[in-house]
Formats: sequence, structure tokens, C-alpha cells
Amino acid sequence: MAYTIAFSGKGGVGKTTLCGLLIRYMLETGKHPILVVDADSNYNLNEVLGVEVETTLGDIREQMKRGDVPIGMTKDRFMDTKLEESIIETDKFDLVVMGRPEGQGCYCAANTLLTNFLTRLVGNYDYIVIDNEAGMEHISRLTTKDVDALVVVSDTSKRGLQAAKRINELASSLHVVIGRGYLVLNNVEGELSDAVKKYIDNIGLEFLGCVMKDPLIQEYDMEGKPTFEIPEDSVALKSAYEVFKKIV
Ligand SMILES: Nc1ncnc2c1ncn2[C@@H]1O[C@H](COP(=O)(O)OP(=O)(O)OP(=O)(O)O)[C@@H](O)[C@H]1O
Ligand SMILES: [Mg+2]
Repeated sequence: MAYTIAFSGKGGVGKTTLCGLLIRYMLETGKHPILVVDADSNYNLNEVLGVEVETTLGDIREQMKRGDVPIGMTKDRFMDTKLEESIIETDKFDLVVMGRPEGQGCYCAANTLLTNFLTRLVGNYDYIVIDNEAGMEHISRLTTKDVDALVVVSDTSKRGLQAAKRINELASSLHVVIGRGYLVLNNVEGELSDAVKKYIDNIGLEFLGCVMKDPLIQEYDMEGKPTFEIPEDSVALKSAYEVFKKIV
């Protein structure tokens, strides 16, 4: 069974950035093959990783619902072929992008095919890494797989930490089984204040450590360079690796 790691947390705290750095860490430490799942409907993990996205699973679901199927092909066959084609294969990892959630109308047939496809797909990998949008609800959409490690990311703000606490509370009410829940603080400058330390103790997640604020990350982002390729001596990368050791 694949070991599944999923990221969650408030908007803009660095989930996608850390997801990218974790994938690099896993590759460098021999933890592969990896299937990367971008489950954020506003997907951008591919930019962090430096790969292009042509089709999302959501696009294919829409096509099937509209009945855009070539003559002489069954819907099922068509959708399966399309789904297979949507896997972005690189020499380092494979990536699937979930895309937009379903709109109005009946998607039952398409959803069944999608779920079957994902179930078959995850069987091919030792590790699954999932980047999520802010919040928690969508994790319950990923019905194909339980999560072994839920990595909740926060900054040192009260709102970020509150969101982390709420996510942890929500996680226990979902039908997805969560193996372990971790807290990682990102964008940290200097030492943590006593107030933050005290708050962390109340969240109920195992605190793994801090990833430091690094101007290089912002610079790469602004210049459209993949964060995945940040130099080895980046303070964010180094501190992130110390944290990732405890996850995988
Ligand atoms: N350790 C860091 N040091 C400096 N900048 C960072 C760090 N981590 C993330 N950032 C920057 O913060 C911004 C938000 O990061 P990111 O997109 O990873 O957050 P997110 O939680 O995935 O956001 P969203 O909720 O929109 O998906 C980006 O511009 C990123 O470059
Ligand atoms: Mg993100």
C-alpha cells in the first residue's frame, strides 16, 4: 500500500511550497516512485515543480458529462483513455491534477470512472503526496485513499494556528482515516514567542518544527522559477529537510 502524505492549512501559509520541497527531499532520500496529486482547484503545484499541465481530471469529467465522445468509442473507454493520458509523467515523479470540482447535474457515471481510475493508479506507487486547497472539506472528496500523514502547515499568526486547530478537529469527523497529524510552522523568522509555543501545545497535532522564511523562495516565485530547484544552501530548504526527516 502506498504511503500517503497530504498537506492542509490556511490559505497562503506555504502548503504548495512545502509540498514541492518534500517531493525533492523524498527523491534525494530514495523515497519513490511518487504520485503527486494536485487537489487544489486553483492548481499551481506544477509551477513549483516546473512542469506544464494540459488537462485536469475535472476537464475530462466535464467532457464525459457533455457527451463529447468520438463516434465508435464507448464513453467508458473514452474516459479511461483520456484519464490515462492526463497523467503527467516526468523522470522524477508522476503528477495528476484534479482541477475544478463538479458543477451542476449528474456526474455519477463520470465519478465512478474517476474513482476507479484513481484507485488503480495509486496502486502503482510507493508514495502519494497530495497538495490541497485551504481548508479541509475537499480531503473528504479524495475517497480513494486514507491519509497516513496529514501535514498541517501554519505561519506564526493566530489565524493560521486557529485554522490548524480547526482542521485537526474537522479531520476526526471525516470518513477519511488519518494515520498521524503533524503541525509544521512555515515562514518563521527568529525564535518562536512563548505565546506561539503555548498555542501550539493546544492544537493537538504533533509539532515537527519550523521552516524558516527565505527571500530566495519569494524571488524564485516572482521570477517564475520552480521553487523545486532552489539552491541547496537555502535556509528554507535546510530547515524543511530537518522537518521532513520526521515524516518520511
Ligand atoms: N519559507 C518561505 N519563505 C519565504 N516565502 C515563502 C515561504 N514559504 C512560502 N513562501 C511564499 O508564500 C507564498 C504562498 O505560498 P504557497 O503558495 O506555497 O502557499 P499555499 O498555502 O499553498 O497557498 P494557497 O492556500 O493559495 O494554496 C508564495 O509566494 C511563496 O513563495
Ligand atoms: Mg497552494
